[in-house]
Amino acid sequence: MINKAIILAGGMGTRMSPLTKAVNKQLLPIYDKPLIFYPLSILMLAKIKDILIIVNKGQLSQYKKILPDGKRLGINIIYKEQNYPKGLPDAFLLGEKFIDNKNVALILGDNFFYGQDLSSKLIKSTKLKNGAKVILHKVIKPELYGVAKTSKSGKIISIKEKPKKYISDLAVTGLYFFDKKVVEYTKKLKPSSRNELEIADLLNVYLKKKKLTSDILGRGGAWLDTGSIEDFYKTSAFVSAIENRQGFKIACIEEIAFNNKWINKKEILDAIQFYGRCDYSNYLKKLIS
Ligand code: DAU
Repeated sequence: MINKAIILAGGMGTRMSPLTKAVNKQLLPIYDKPLIFYPLSILMLAKIKDILIIVNKGQLSQYKKILPDGKRLGINIIYKEQNYPKGLPDAFLLGEKFIDNKNVALILGDNFFYGQDLSSKLIKSTKLKNGAKVILHKVIKPELYGVAKTSKSGKIISIKEKPKKYISDLAVTGLYFFDKKVVEYTKKLKPSSRNELEIADLLNVYLKKKKLTSDILGRGGAWLDTGSIEDFYKTSAFVSAIENRQGFKIACIEEIAFNNKWINKKEILDAIQFYGRCDYSNYLKKLIS
């Protein structure tokens, strides 16, 4: 069972400079809300309430302005700073105390997921007892991501980080579910040639032990990672198209908390006051009217 999760929301965002010179990438807008709302909403849809957000050294105050401690969402948010980007598995070293020898999920702060049945898929994944689980999604340019080669029956055969030669078109998305061994295994990893701990190496430890499983986010779902300015525009256009057509917001964290019965009308009213007069507040007003 997984009740805890880490959002890895540091990184230098170098590819998006000068936008990221003063503001962390995960606080930049995807249409009408900061990027960090989207991965946070995914964890909340998975009914995970205990969350560690890892941020860049020196950028904690930016995050605390928008997400102080989670109380107003009925969840628990704590923060930890990363001195410099040492690689994704560093999340488990920085988070060792938070993980407290329990199973844990990891989501990358720049990943966007959307689709029907996503919530039930997420909740199913939190039932993991041992081993690790990844979510795969078909993409046109697999060389940009971690890639999984699978057998005909869908079992993972190999995982490679950004392979130059084609091995499969199934990208490993930035949402991972791990058992409590993850800290022990991470401690044994060696930095790669780019001097980072690699998530592919960690997943391969589980694969070797025959403890790596996967689920596919099919063509009815969308997965986007927002590494470049172009990605921000495309993802924003996607969110805008859906929200303005249906009238529902994607990743309205208060709405999810309210639907999960973690908060009630009072907290929604507090949120409206917190955000002030804006479209987001108008949406919250409708929620409780
Ligand atoms: O988005 C999915 C992909 O994410 C996976 O398919 C790859 O296997 C995985 O390595 C990762 O690739 P990226 O090249 O997208 O990783 P990136 O370095 O851009 O980092 C992803 C996010 O994590 C980004 O928001 C910054 C944050 N980060 C990254 C590192 C390395 C940190 O907060 N600390 C870090 O040390």
